[in-house]
Amino acid sequence: MKHLLKMMDLSTEEIIDILNLADQLKYELKHNIPHPLLRGKTLGMIFQKASTRTRVSFETGMYQLGGYPLFLSSSDLQIGRGEPVQDTARVLSRYLDGIMIRTFEQKEVEDLAEYGSIPIINGLTDFSHPCQVLADLMTIREIKGSFDGLKMAYIGDGNNMANSLITGCLKAGMSVAAACPQNYHPAAEVLEFAQSTGRFTLTDDPHTAAQNADVLITDVWASMGQEGEAEKRRIAFKGYQINDSIVEAANKDAIVLHCLPAHREEEITSKVFEAHAKEIFEEAENRLHAQKAVMVKLMADQ
Ligand code: CP
Ligand code: NVA
Repeated sequence: MKHLLKMMDLSTEEIIDILNLADQLKYELKHNIPHPLLRGKTLGMIFQKASTRTRVSFETGMYQLGGYPLFLSSSDLQIGRGEPVQDTARVLSRYLDGIMIRTFEQKEVEDLAEYGSIPIINGLTDFSHPCQVLADLMTIREIKGSFDGLKMAYIGDGNNMANSLITGCLKAGMSVAAACPQNYHPAAEVLEFAQSTGRFTLTDDPHTAAQNADVLITDVWASMGQEGEAEKRRIAFKGYQINDSIVEAANKDAIVLHCLPAHREEEITSKVFEAHAKEIFEEAENRLHAQKAVMVKLMADQ
């Protein structure tokens, strides 16, 4: 594993390896056991979109590993004034030991990896959010004990989270159902992979997807960059909400996850959110541990 660009690139073994290391790093942090595995290393963090969790968890994670994180807002970099990503990659590779980037196009992340010579980590694109899904898988395994026989139901927009969750949960061995409105389906390449596993169903009915689910997940109806479509999307996604009736359709001990930020009374009711806040905020915490594991796997031997 040289980079973390999207879930599709990871094998089942690589996912499990990352999760095992993440569990270990979480244990060490909780027990005040120092783990300076990236002492002296630097991570550049390029943000072309807003962030709370990704920024703070990468920054503190790098610090806990003994390294140094640099926050690089794209509006302050020449990349924001049109310097090609190919040139940015070749320059930053000479200063840094790794780059985390949050941007719009997946191609920009792939280009950084192609032209640079250091590990690249995708901190969210319009296509994927692998760091979040590794934290989600860590949370599911932590609460449920294993992935064996579990079903994840995703309800809502076929966006970056849907693409990565469907891929990640299937690779972890779970079965998956997605309920998305027509015109808002996950990416074709994700559906092609998902259908090839024989453990995936796509429907436009959230109740059908939720039946027998052990894990219910949703995400915002309008992602970053889609603010102008918010009203149109509110109409298209009406009914694609995790509420009491969806929770009732799922298994009795089903957990509910949300990558956050959440829009209460849109994709999830306030009542369900608060009833499952324990899982949701554990999931947010696990961003820290999962990403530390990713950084160690990618950067420790550089
Ligand atoms: N879930 C997530 O990526 O949160 P941020 O946008 O706050 O980083
Ligand atoms: N789908 C959301 C996820 C935010 C973490 C977005 O891209 O804005």
